[in-house]
Amino acid sequence: MAKMEHTFIAIKPDGIQRGLVGDTIKHFEQKGFRLVAMKFLRASEELLKQHYIDLKDRLFYPGLVKYMNSGPVVAMVWEGPTVVKTVRTMLGESNPADSQPGTTRRDFCIQVGRNIIHGSDSVKSAGREIGLWFESEELVDYKSCAFDWIYE
Ligand code: RTP
Ligand code: MG
Repeated sequence: MAKMEHTFIAIKPDGIQRGLVGDTIKHFEQKGFRLVAMKFLRASEELLKQHYIDLKDRLFYPGLVKYMNSGPVVAMVWEGPTVVKTVRTMLGESNPADSQPGTTRRDFCIQVGRNIIHGSDSVKSAGREIGLWFESEELVDYKSCAFDWIYE
């Protein structure tokens, strides 16, 4: 059995406002990944600054924090083998215009600054981000009834 990983995914305020929560989450469910945690919140500026701390020296950083704080987000943890890399591939490139057809960002949005969804870029980032957004007891341990039909 392949080793399981966790990744952090957030539907950004534009994804919420545009009614894309169901369509975006559907892909992860249909793929067979397991939903581990989920919450709906308006994230504080402090949390968002920490979340994107690696980008603090970029010119777009203040605008990015403002955008992410402009409305509620759906924060989630998903589990699967190589889920971090696979989700990044499913989301597409940061800029929707550079993304392949069939990816979330290519199919649902147009500009880099309104790209509707976040996914952790490495296993290390995923661990850091999950720790920022969730308490350990909020990660729910259960076995999906489809497990034995997804994994051999
Ligand atoms: P994310 O962290 O949100 O999943 O996005 P990403 O890894 O694809 O891209 P990253 O380099 O981490 O940038 C984070 C978010 O900042 C916004 N951005 N704006 N105006 C710009 O040039 C620019 N570049 C990046 C995007 O919302 C990007 O997703
Ligand atoms: Mg990133």
